Amino acid sequence: MSHADSTTKTTIVIFGASGDLTERKLIPALYSLHLKDRLPDGLEIVGMSRTEYSHEQFREHLRARAEAYAGEASTPDAWDAFARRIWYQPGDSKQAEDYRKLDAMLAERENGPANRLYYLSVAPSLYGPIVQQLGDNDMAHASGGWRRVVVEKPFGHDLASAHELNEVIHAVFDEDQVYRIDHYLGKETAQNILFFRFANTIFEPVWNRNYVDNVQITVAEEVDIGHRADFYDKAGVLRDMFQNHLLQLLALITMEPPYAFTADALRNEKVKVFNSIRPIPCSDTVLAQYEGYRDTSGVAPDSRTPTYAALKLMIDNWRWQGVPFYLRSGKALDRKVSEIVVEFTCPPHMMFQLESDECFSPNVLSLCIQPDEGIHLTFEAKQPGSAQETRSVEMEFHYRSSFGDGTLPDAYERLLLDALTGDASLFTRSDEIETAWQLIDPVIAGWETPDAPPLVSYRRGQQGPKEAEAFLARDGRFWRQGCIEHGE
Ligand code: BG6
Repeated sequence: MSHADSTTKTTIVIFGASGDLTERKLIPALYSLHLKDRLPDGLEIVGMSRTEYSHEQFREHLRARAEAYAGEASTPDAWDAFARRIWYQPGDSKQAEDYRKLDAMLAERENGPANRLYYLSVAPSLYGPIVQQLGDNDMAHASGGWRRVVVEKPFGHDLASAHELNEVIHAVFDEDQVYRIDHYLGKETAQNILFFRFANTIFEPVWNRNYVDNVQITVAEEVDIGHRADFYDKAGVLRDMFQNHLLQLLALITMEPPYAFTADALRNEKVKVFNSIRPIPCSDTVLAQYEGYRDTSGVAPDSRTPTYAALKLMIDNWRWQGVPFYLRSGKALDRKVSEIVVEFTCPPHMMFQLESDECFSPNVLSLCIQPDEGIHLTFEAKQPGSAQETRSVEMEFHYRSSFGDGTLPDAYERLLLDALTGDASLFTRSDEIETAWQLIDPVIAGWETPDAPPLVSYRRGQQGPKEAEAFLARDGRFWRQGCIEHGE
């Protein structure tokens, strides 16, 4: 980002400043940007929450996590310089009086026209009330500077609540002032999907129903729900992971080429592809809960909340007709991995005398989002010394070997920088969020009817329930693990 556009002073105002996200993600990301000299000159950060911190106590509360994230790049002097950007204003986000105090404090610090980025790092039930207060207290619009608002996920609990929240927000802010976060879009490897597809010539011609047999998207987590039962038991994996992260990855993989790399061009294409997804019948879903979930404090003893889901999606358009997309995500699994595996069709004619007539090793392209970020391509090679035998071999690209260790910034660095520069490409638009809910709501509703299939269970530390294996076997396929490292 150039510093030339930062002659007007900018403040990031964080609501929910004493919370976990501020300490764990926002401040470390901002500190890292500060160390890289990528923050606008004069940028200040003002935290607000109910805790009675002094400025100094607030800075000290944030220090350890930020320094740990920055690693060797951090020095005591660098931290002191960054800490001088940070201020604190105690306040209750439900009290109008506290907004007036906050506004007065900001105005005093700004001392003239200024930009403000309001960051809602609070419980979702507070998104609407805070936005309304910002409107009522005349803090949403200003001459001589911009006003933007960043809204964390979850954005709504279903289509109706997401729509209502959009209406509350639009009563105060214009859509181009609103930045809805999906941190998966901030991951370098997720962004790279677009570069892989549209900055190269050789992949896009085969990126369609003529060459792609099926696509598998896996976002697996080793962690369980931890201390988040209050939120998670009401949400479950479909709301927590599918409505946002998995559908966003699907959109990046399946969308048509946008005419330009701009927010609206990109988001128009995503909405188009979401609209082409066929409604998902219950029979194309597997929902499961890990054993012991109901013993977690805060979880209902008879909870039917799924912690794992596998879905099959079909996209009714020219490019993807007939190609199944298998999506799966769950907690308490054997490993943490996010990957997209594209399995290609068999060659139309096999002239080699292979052991089997079938094409048992199709070409597979794996986009590895995390943890070992990169791309793997599996293809057949002639087994040396044999007459006609083949073996699957791999070409691998690893970010860390091509770009060096430490080149992948946390998603929040990208997203905060984009929100500051006014680039909404990696944020979700109101219609995009609502279309995604439109897809997921009926699946959840289907599972809440009396004749819904049984919720199955799975042991912790495994790949998921056996029913998810059977689900793919039904289609003559199996889940692939495309990003397992085969050595460099
Ligand atoms: C969050 C979910 O949005 O994403 C969490 O609420 C989940 O439940 C997390 O653990 C996963 O993100 P990442 O970046 O660790 O894959």
